[in-house]
Amino acid sequence: MRLSLRFLLPLALVLAGLAYAVIPLVDTLTLKWFMRDLELRSQLIAGMMEGPLTDLLASESKTKLSVYFQRITKDERLFAIGFCDPSNQLTYKTDTYPDSIPCAGDTAVNAGQTTLVRLKQGAVHVSAVGIEANDRQLGRLMLIHDMSWVERRSSDTKWYLFYLFAVIGVVISLVTVLVAHLSWLGWVAGVRAMIRGEGLAALIGDQKPGADLHPLAQDLRTLIHDLEADKRMRDENQMSWTPVTLKTILHDHLAGDEVLIGSNREPYIHNWREQRIEVQVPASGVVTALEPIMRACSGVWIAHGSGTADREVVDAHDHVRVPPENPEYEIRRIWMSQEEEVGYYYGFANEGLWPLCHLAHVRPVFRSSDWEQYKKMNERFAMAIIEEAKTDNPVVLVQDYHLALVPKIVRDRLPHATIITFWHIPWPNPERYAICPWYREILEGLLGSSILGFHTRFHCSNFINTVDRSLETRIDWDSSMISFQGKLTAVNHYPISIAWPDRAELPLPSESECRAHIRTINALPQAHRVGVGVERLDYTKGILERFLAIERLLELQPEWIGKFSFIQIAAPSRSKIEEYQQLTQQVIASADRINERFGREGYRPIHLRIEHHEPKDVNIYYRGADLCIVSSLHDGMNLVAKEFVAAREDEQGVLILSQFTGSATELPEALIINPYNIDQCAAALHLALAMPPVEQRARMRSMRGIVQEFNVYRWAGRMLMDAARMRQRARLARQMGVGDVRTTMGDQA
Ligand code: G6P
Repeated sequence: MRLSLRFLLPLALVLAGLAYAVIPLVDTLTLKWFMRDLELRSQLIAGMMEGPLTDLLASESKTKLSVYFQRITKDERLFAIGFCDPSNQLTYKTDTYPDSIPCAGDTAVNAGQTTLVRLKQGAVHVSAVGIEANDRQLGRLMLIHDMSWVERRSSDTKWYLFYLFAVIGVVISLVTVLVAHLSWLGWVAGVRAMIRGEGLAALIGDQKPGADLHPLAQDLRTLIHDLEADKRMRDENQMSWTPVTLKTILHDHLAGDEVLIGSNREPYIHNWREQRIEVQVPASGVVTALEPIMRACSGVWIAHGSGTADREVVDAHDHVRVPPENPEYEIRRIWMSQEEEVGYYYGFANEGLWPLCHLAHVRPVFRSSDWEQYKKMNERFAMAIIEEAKTDNPVVLVQDYHLALVPKIVRDRLPHATIITFWHIPWPNPERYAICPWYREILEGLLGSSILGFHTRFHCSNFINTVDRSLETRIDWDSSMISFQGKLTAVNHYPISIAWPDRAELPLPSESECRAHIRTINALPQAHRVGVGVERLDYTKGILERFLAIERLLELQPEWIGKFSFIQIAAPSRSKIEEYQQLTQQVIASADRINERFGREGYRPIHLRIEHHEPKDVNIYYRGADLCIVSSLHDGMNLVAKEFVAAREDEQGVLILSQFTGSATELPEALIINPYNIDQCAAALHLALAMPPVEQRARMRSMRGIVQEFNVYRWAGRMLMDAARMRQRARLARQMGVGDVRTTMGDQA
């Protein structure tokens, strides 16, 4: 109704405007016509009267003339007749002849003229016709017609026009509302049909399906699917995403199913420290997300035993129960010789695949010897997973680029397993990927997965395009399904995140205490402004670029010299690789150079701390800093950005975030930078330092909402739910005797 009114009201207004403009026009036009009629009429009457009038004038009988005039004026429209002689005297007239129409003077009407005169009783039309006999002017015959009927008609015409416009308005409105309503019903039915995937053919007969609706329907389908999936999960779990949610999913949807995890890094590392064994928990988002799953289903986590005391604590089958204080699941440790580790981990994974997938201008190195070790170690991981499986259809979670060949090996031995592989780093475009000499084997390995996850849609489409160019596959672009050698892989994006911190579990000092603490331990005055950066010392993180930005800030805005310092926490990483060793030297040299240039007594712009920091210490830095810089040259997601946001319960602090991170799409309220644009980064730093607290609060509050909602439990939960659905369909298909749904694309959609 409101929609109809929105249309009808303007229509009524337009019609009223038209009527307002048209009615006076029509009035003038009809008046002209009537005047013209009266002129003709007057000439006719004058022509008819001319003969008798000449005779009567010759007889000079006033009585006869009066009688004659009275007779003529019986005509109801002829109001009066008069006769003006050549000396402009009104010699003869009817009784009705008005005094205000004289024969002489300015207002007199000459022969051959007509005019309108308004009298007390109304308007009259005056027509003066010259009468002559034998070429002699006898005078003027004044014919006066009543015009009141013209006014009556004009008023009638106005009303007719008004009714006409009103009727036209009502008819147009009715027709339009009816047509619009029918079209709306048809359109809604069409969209519904498209969303159901039926096309419009059935609705519109012979016509081609509405091609213009296809993109819209696709968008709507995706949106509705996402919303429904999220709502379903929330309804099912009746809570936001927490470790309990994950347990509920396992209990309700994967009850009794076996869960195995394969990753290079282990969740607990045992190390010798002064003849005592110490347990280290790597600060990894993956461990936080996957541990609740392991705890809930007492699964097995297969990982490289990299700790110096790892061998000391395992049983005869290389198992150790963890967490040490309250064991709930097992780690199965994989051993490797130094040579194997150099080839598999340092060589192929970190000198080959890592630079291949990150656009950071470091040349990937591919050695056949590394590839051999990579294959061998992947086989070792896969065989351990197969050995650990107690059933023929476990859920296997394979983590990252170290284990690209594992999914296929497991799939070949355990065809009913549900294998979820998550690629934690970006996937490059097909041209770049083709650099890898063993690109086929890697793709075939990954396509052993039932579900292959990336952080962003963009990485998913890069992967699908790469497969399309490299292997003989069938790809359903709509559902991102790849069919290879009769098996299906669903390629989905699952943006990883962090655990939303629970203050009770992680009691931290207040923000003001943290502010004071980090200034004290770095020997900075309490009012000093502090920026922080936290990462592994890796060339993808853009540490050199951010140092240049700090230098540029101090050049352009010297008021910050002596008032602002940047604390870079850099954990040593992969230090056997030459590229990493060189980077460490460059980072140290760059910090020294800038400190030398702008440092003064007791003041250094850059505080470089190349050492491992415990998560609690890192959190204190996050909470006490004025800003945090994440300037990665390329990053799958980047969890530092999310950790900083999560740490800021005071809703203060500014995040400066590289546009080349996956997080940038989720956190647009950060100051988004291009780390290669040093001037822009320096401007962002100045903006951050000058940002009023209200603006900081508005930006931080919005980002905190996102990180809280899209936390790491959601990341793991969505993958498990997708796996559960896949398994449910497979079970149904087996019961119905149609084979494994993974073998046909149509069944899977
Ligand atoms: C990246 C990778 C992880 C890896 C982490 C630390 O985030 O995606 O798989 O564990 O870096 O690297 P490291 O070589 O120390 O395991």
